[in-house]
Amino acid sequence: MATELQSRCEPHHVAIIMDGNGRWAAMRGQPRSAGHRQGVEALRRTVRAAAELGIGVLTLYSFSTENWSRPAAEVRFLLDLLRRFIRTDVAELHKSNIRIMVIGDRDGLEPSLRKLFEEAEALTRENSALKLVIAFNYGGRQEITRAVRALAQKVARGEILPADITPDVIGNHLDTGGLPEPDLLIRTGGEQRLSNYLLWQCAYTEFVFMPDYWPDFDADRLRQAVADYRMRDRRFGGLTAQSA
Ligand code: IPE
Ligand code: IPE
Ligand code: MG
Repeated sequence: MATELQSRCEPHHVAIIMDGNGRWAAMRGQPRSAGHRQGVEALRRTVRAAAELGIGVLTLYSFSTENWSRPAAEVRFLLDLLRRFIRTDVAELHKSNIRIMVIGDRDGLEPSLRKLFEEAEALTRENSALKLVIAFNYGGRQEITRAVRALAQKVARGEILPADITPDVIGNHLDTGGLPEPDLLIRTGGEQRLSNYLLWQCAYTEFVFMPDYWPDFDADRLRQAVADYRMRDRRFGGLTAQSA
């Protein structure tokens, strides 16, 4: 019984807002880029730890639609870092049976980056261990807007009726269509906000905010967040044994 209860409490989908790279570097008198570089190491550790914990889906916020407003040199550095991460790690991730998926708006991205995303997705498509979802050029409002437009086009073409549009249908038209909603969202760096991340999907997600900067994130901190999650009483608006 205890094990059944425990297994029901494991988060299947964990989403992370990897925040605090710049402050991590500033604290050490280093340029922000040094924080981003260490952030990639934290990302590698986290993917490994998530796979070991048996987490099904790990969705990482790597670059928001609003991050383009940063200085051009930082934007370029972040793009190059992601490019290098995929190039360097894709074979290893594939060997570990990890499936790579990218969410966010690909329109207007450099063709070489789009090609890299497509190739990584195609190579790992059949993998059945952890799903690693990278949110790049991602914004929750933009994603919902794209879904609404796609649905409006279907209505305009007479393929569906307005009454056919249900929450499930909307969910399936998002970039995350087919994925379960996040059970647990972790944000490092001390801020307690969503910053346009997974707005629709987080309707009933449990939030864990950590003061630690992302470059310091590791397996222990992930386990700690999962332990916090296990203590939560998820009611989804109803009553559970604990609250009844
Ligand atoms: C997160 O760290 C990385 C990205 C947003 C791409 P930040 O760069 O936001 O670091 P802080 O929040 O300024 O410390
Ligand atoms: C959120 O962090 C985006 C990513 C981690 C990729 P930001 O640093 O951009 O968020 P704000 O600006 O503090 O809300
Ligand atoms: Mg930040």
